[in-house]
Amino acid sequence: MNGRRIVLGVSGGIAAYKAAALASRLVQRGAEVEVILTEDAQRFVGAATFAALVRRPVHTSLWERVEEIPHIRLAREAEVLAIVPATANTIAQLAAGLAHDLLGNVALATRAPLMIAPAMNTVMLEHAATQANLATLRARGVTIVEPGVGFLAEREHGPGRLADEEQLIEAIESLLRRAQDLAGERVLITAGPTREAIDPVRFLSNAATGTQGIELAREALARGAEVDLVLGPTPLEPPPGARTIRVTSAREMEAAVRERAADATVTIATAAVADWRPAVAHARKVKKTESQPAIALEPNPDILAELGTRKNGTFLIGFAAETEALEANAREKLVRKNCDAIVVNDVSGERAFGAVDNALVLLWGAHGRRDLGSGSKRELAARLWDAILDLKRQRA
Ligand code: C5P
Repeated sequence: MNGRRIVLGVSGGIAAYKAAALASRLVQRGAEVEVILTEDAQRFVGAATFAALVRRPVHTSLWERVEEIPHIRLAREAEVLAIVPATANTIAQLAAGLAHDLLGNVALATRAPLMIAPAMNTVMLEHAATQANLATLRARGVTIVEPGVGFLAEREHGPGRLADEEQLIEAIESLLRRAQDLAGERVLITAGPTREAIDPVRFLSNAATGTQGIELAREALARGAEVDLVLGPTPLEPPPGARTIRVTSAREMEAAVRERAADATVTIATAAVADWRPAVAHARKVKKTESQPAIALEPNPDILAELGTRKNGTFLIGFAAETEALEANAREKLVRKNCDAIVVNDVSGERAFGAVDNALVLLWGAHGRRDLGSGSKRELAARLWDAILDLKRQRA
């Protein structure tokens, strides 16, 4: 943690007193800790306690040293924003994106990963509103250090107790490690469906939305990579910071990939490329009155297989969307397309194209296998990058 910049947000619950001990531990490990106290936090622990522990002024208001625009400075400097404890109110504020105090503003203005450690009364924790807010944050990729079960200030025993200090430090360390671990990597990602024209208004396509590829791009950017995203037609927005080339057909995707493939250190093909295209794309709309049309098809280029034939050092990862014999089919593709690894994506059930949640397994070599579990596509993007980096380091 030496020299790393951690912004510690403290909200107003009784567990705020434990945040002081945490701040001290972080400082002892060499971190530079900036503390933000909400107004309510100051009712539990005074600013002087934190200021003495971290040896710098603490931040309590949007309106102090306004000339420094403190929320933007803190947001930019943070490598991790950790909120300990996170009360039900703060969690609601974060989920809604409210910015009525300094902590809310910094949380909105930062690109640093966010970690929260909820601590509150059991009934408040289990309330549907709190659970829905936590689910929103989780889906957004926020690290939630789950509260433990134990003695609570109201002299009851139950869930809601702030996680142990060791767990909090471990979570912060893991986010710091992750913070820039893709710096220097040039990542090329294909995402989304393709459209193959029948005539000017009709096309063959599929239900892919590009969500998983967009999340992989977003995560790679956050972890310091340069990202080229070749994106098929989708209403979703690509992440800011990626160099995005929008394409429509498989042949356009192939051309864009060729242009960007040469200096990629990691290439991930998540796109659901149409295997076939109409042999003829009519210049005018085909009339209903004309005889029943037969659409002759011809094969599209296999972009991933083509990349596999001339790999110049890039670590090549394919996706296998399967509905049956998942892993056997995926391993066959891994070999046929000469990939370094392949991600199995079960698209048979509710986790079909366009869903928020996904479940992925990474396969490599003859027997290599890592189950990435299930979760939001954003969470899985983080886990997949962890796995790719581990594998790449093993190979190096
Ligand atoms: O053979 P299949 O289409 O199932 O393989 C899926 C993998 O191949 C995905 O990574 C997909 O992006 C890639 N692919 C491709 N070009 C195609 C078809 C698939 O890059 N024409």
